[in-house]
Amino acid sequence: MEQGQWRQARRLVREARHAIALTGAGISAESGVPTFRDAGGLWKSYRPEELATPEALARDPRTVLEWYAWRRSALADCRPNEGHRALARFFLGRGESGLVTQNVDGLHTRAALEEAGKGPAEAALPLELHGAVGRDRCQSCAARWPAEPLGETLPQCSACGGLRRPDVVLFGEALDADLLDRARGLAEQADLCLVVGTSAVVYPAAALPLATREAGGHIVEVNVRRTALTEAATLALRGEAGTILPALLDRQSGSPR
Ligand code: OAD
Repeated sequence: MEQGQWRQARRLVREARHAIALTGAGISAESGVPTFRDAGGLWKSYRPEELATPEALARDPRTVLEWYAWRRSALADCRPNEGHRALARFFLGRGESGLVTQNVDGLHTRAALEEAGKGPAEAALPLELHGAVGRDRCQSCAARWPAEPLGETLPQCSACGGLRRPDVVLFGEALDADLLDRARGLAEQADLCLVVGTSAVVYPAAALPLATREAGGHIVEVNVRRTALTEAATLALRGEAGTILPALLDRQSGSPR
């Protein structure tokens, strides 16, 4: 990465009064979590229409619940990487929430709790726009619980008898309106939006950086390749999140190796 671009990126971070970050599956790739649209990504091996839509859940709940149970078990050995940790330290240090993620892997939350002590832990807890695969919710009454292993019979809500399903947004489902309102408010007030590890093709999440730009703020993209958002970015930093973010965000570090 050329030095002028790097200096400009560090200055934008240093001077930002209200910074936010939007992350996607790419920030968890170095933790061993598969992305969706890269070679080897989940949507290259599985059809979302069969596994990640309300219609699929209604048609064949056991297959859908088993797929999410498999995704959950595949996460058991994954740990936050240096990209997650650098973002957690950054927001802890600023004492203000600004982390918005599309990921359901819970790794930002774990990084925030592991890095806490350097600031109010809630400052680094993410807004999980697409939910969290480590939680279940009731399909009928929206009660929520920590996810449990799938048994022989379909899990039922203890309060209303509805189907217990992963607390994640399926394709075609509405996002949590309060979460989305909060994320939009943060994006409109931000003067810097870091966009990390997302192909920026799924809305409404992908509209958030554009809201920052429309309000006069800058977009700085961190990705290993071009995306749908690269054109709109003030700077596009090419490289892995686990390498770029610590160098970009930690106060004392220089440019990446
Ligand atoms: P994608 O798989 O669409 O995109 C992953 C992005 O991460 C790509 O742009 C990669 O180039 C980039 N990437 C991969 N490894 C990286 C690394 N080490 N460092 C930096 N960037 C890296 O995943 P998302 O954009 O997150 O939604 O997908 C958005 C949504 O589509 C997901 O939340 C999910 C999916 O369907 C739902 O399930 C509702």
